Amino acid sequence: MLVVGSDHGGYELKMAILEMLRDKGIACADFGTDGSDSVDYPDYAAKVAGAVSSGDAELGILICGTGIGMSISANKFSKVRAALVHDEFTAQMAREHNNANILVMGGRVLSCDQGKKLVAIWLATEFEGDRHQNRLDKITAFEQQATTQ
Ligand code: RB5
Repeated sequence: MLVVGSDHGGYELKMAILEMLRDKGIACADFGTDGSDSVDYPDYAAKVAGAVSSGDAELGILICGTGIGMSISANKFSKVRAALVHDEFTAQMAREHNNANILVMGGRVLSCDQGKKLVAIWLATEFEGDRHQNRLDKITAFEQQATTQ
Protein backbone atom coordinates (compact mmCIF):
# COMPACT_ATOMS: atom_id res chain seq x y z
CA MET A 1 0.00 0.00 0.00
CA LEU A 2 1.28 3.42 -1.02
CA VAL A 3 -0.17 6.46 0.78
CA VAL A 4 -0.04 9.96 -0.66
CA GLY A 5 -0.49 13.32 1.03
CA SER A 6 0.07 16.99 0.32
CA ASP A 7 -0.70 20.48 1.52
CA HIS A 8 -2.26 23.10 -0.77
CA GLY A 9 1.14 23.78 -2.38
CA GLY A 10 1.34 20.17 -3.52
CA TYR A 11 -2.32 19.49 -4.23
CA GLU A 12 -2.18 19.69 -8.04
CA LEU A 13 0.87 17.42 -8.27
CA LYS A 14 -0.60 15.00 -5.74
CA MET A 15 -3.76 14.60 -7.86
CA ALA A 16 -1.67 14.02 -11.01
CA ILE A 17 0.39 11.37 -9.22
CA LEU A 18 -2.66 9.59 -7.83
CA GLU A 19 -4.12 9.43 -11.33
CA MET A 20 -0.88 7.94 -12.65
CA LEU A 21 -0.71 5.37 -9.84
CA ARG A 22 -4.31 4.30 -10.40
CA ASP A 23 -3.72 4.05 -14.16
CA LYS A 24 -0.78 1.73 -13.42
CA GLY A 25 -2.94 -0.39 -11.09
CA ILE A 26 -0.83 0.46 -8.02
CA ALA A 27 -2.79 0.25 -4.75
CA CYS A 28 -2.75 3.71 -3.20
CA ALA A 29 -4.67 5.89 -0.76
CA ASP A 30 -5.19 9.65 -0.76
CA PHE A 31 -4.57 11.12 2.71
CA GLY A 32 -5.48 14.67 1.65
CA THR A 33 -5.52 17.61 1.48
CA ASP A 34 -8.64 17.78 -0.64
CA GLY A 35 -8.36 21.18 -2.30
CA SER A 36 -6.35 24.36 -2.69
CA ASP A 37 -7.38 25.97 0.63
CA SER A 38 -4.42 26.76 2.85
CA VAL A 39 -3.60 23.98 5.36
CA ASP A 40 -0.63 23.10 7.58
CA TYR A 41 1.81 20.66 5.98
CA PRO A 42 2.82 18.93 9.28
CA ASP A 43 -0.75 17.61 9.64
CA TYR A 44 -0.47 15.75 6.33
CA ALA A 45 3.12 14.69 6.91
CA ALA A 46 1.93 13.10 10.16
CA LYS A 47 -0.81 11.11 8.41
CA VAL A 48 1.53 9.65 5.79
CA ALA A 49 4.66 9.27 7.94
CA GLY A 50 2.59 7.84 10.78
CA ALA A 51 1.20 5.15 8.47
CA VAL A 52 4.67 4.24 7.19
CA SER A 53 6.16 4.33 10.69
CA SER A 54 3.50 1.97 12.07
CA GLY A 55 3.76 -0.40 9.12
CA ASP A 56 0.20 0.27 7.97
CA ALA A 57 1.70 1.49 4.70
CA GLU A 58 4.86 0.28 3.01
CA LEU A 59 5.60 3.48 1.11
CA GLY A 60 4.48 7.11 1.06
CA ILE A 61 4.64 10.21 -1.08
CA LEU A 62 4.48 13.73 0.38
CA ILE A 63 4.27 17.00 -1.51
CA CYS A 64 4.25 20.60 -0.30
CA GLY A 65 5.33 23.78 -2.08
CA THR A 66 9.07 23.12 -1.83
CA GLY A 67 9.08 19.66 -0.26
CA ILE A 68 11.20 21.05 2.58
CA GLY A 69 8.53 21.24 5.29
CA MET A 70 7.22 17.77 4.46
CA SER A 71 10.70 16.23 4.60
CA ILE A 72 11.57 17.89 7.91
CA SER A 73 8.27 16.74 9.42
CA ALA A 74 8.26 13.17 8.07
CA ASN A 75 11.79 12.44 9.25
CA LYS A 76 10.71 13.00 12.87
CA PHE A 77 8.88 9.65 12.70
CA SER A 78 10.76 6.48 13.55
CA LYS A 79 11.54 4.06 10.72
CA VAL A 80 10.85 6.81 8.18
CA ARG A 81 13.45 7.67 5.58
CA ALA A 82 11.91 10.58 3.69
CA ALA A 83 13.94 11.86 0.73
CA LEU A 84 13.34 15.21 -0.96
CA VAL A 85 14.11 14.75 -4.64
CA HIS A 86 14.41 17.25 -7.45
CA ASP A 87 15.42 15.34 -10.54
CA GLU A 88 15.84 11.89 -12.05
CA PHE A 89 19.22 11.27 -10.40
CA THR A 90 18.07 12.09 -6.88
CA ALA A 91 14.88 10.04 -7.36
CA GLN A 92 16.98 7.01 -8.35
CA MET A 93 19.51 7.49 -5.54
CA ALA A 94 16.75 7.94 -2.98
CA ARG A 95 15.92 4.28 -3.45
CA GLU A 96 19.22 2.80 -4.62
CA HIS A 97 21.36 4.18 -1.78
CA ASN A 98 18.94 5.48 0.88
CA ASN A 99 16.06 3.02 0.50
CA ALA A 100 13.73 5.96 1.09
CA ASN A 101 10.29 4.79 2.13
CA ILE A 102 8.78 8.22 1.59
CA LEU A 103 9.39 10.26 -1.55
CA VAL A 104 9.05 14.02 -1.06
CA MET A 105 8.69 16.60 -3.82
CA GLY A 106 7.92 20.28 -4.26
CA GLY A 107 4.72 21.05 -6.11
CA ARG A 108 6.00 24.57 -6.79
CA VAL A 109 9.35 23.23 -7.98
CA LEU A 110 8.34 20.49 -10.40
CA SER A 111 5.81 20.27 -13.21
CA CYS A 112 3.24 17.47 -12.97
CA ASP A 113 5.02 15.59 -15.76
CA GLN A 114 8.37 15.88 -13.96
CA GLY A 115 6.86 14.78 -10.66
CA LYS A 116 5.18 11.74 -12.21
CA LYS A 117 8.48 10.75 -13.83
CA LEU A 118 10.32 10.94 -10.50
CA VAL A 119 7.71 8.74 -8.81
CA ALA A 120 7.98 6.16 -11.61
CA ILE A 121 11.80 6.10 -11.26
CA TRP A 122 11.66 5.75 -7.45
CA LEU A 123 9.15 2.89 -7.69
CA ALA A 124 11.13 1.06 -10.37
CA THR A 125 14.52 1.31 -8.65
CA GLU A 126 15.85 -1.33 -6.25
CA PHE A 127 17.82 -0.76 -3.06
CA GLU A 128 21.45 -1.86 -3.48
CA GLY A 129 21.85 -2.97 0.15
CA ASP A 130 25.36 -4.00 1.21
CA ARG A 131 27.39 -0.97 2.37
CA HIS A 132 24.28 1.18 2.08
CA GLN A 133 22.46 -1.07 4.55
CA ASN A 134 25.31 -0.53 7.03
CA ARG A 135 24.76 3.21 6.72
CA LEU A 136 21.01 2.88 7.22
CA ASP A 137 21.69 0.76 10.31
CA LYS A 138 23.68 3.68 11.72
CA ILE A 139 20.70 5.99 11.15
CA THR A 140 18.43 3.47 12.88
CA ALA A 141 20.85 3.51 15.83
CA PHE A 142 20.33 7.29 16.09
CA GLU A 143 16.60 6.66 16.50
CA GLN A 144 17.22 4.15 19.26
CA GLN A 145 19.59 6.58 21.04
CA ALA A 146 17.02 9.36 20.76
CA THR A 147 14.31 7.28 22.46
CA THR A 148 16.62 6.45 25.38
CA GLN A 149 17.87 10.04 25.95
C1 RB5 B 1 3.02 26.76 2.09
O1 RB5 B 1 2.87 28.07 1.68
C2 RB5 B 1 4.48 26.34 2.03
O2 RB5 B 1 5.18 26.94 3.07
C3 RB5 B 1 4.59 24.82 2.10
O3 RB5 B 1 3.87 24.27 1.04
C4 RB5 B 1 5.98 24.24 2.00
O4 RB5 B 1 6.66 24.74 0.91
C5 RB5 B 1 6.76 24.25 3.23
O5 RB5 B 1 7.90 23.77 3.31
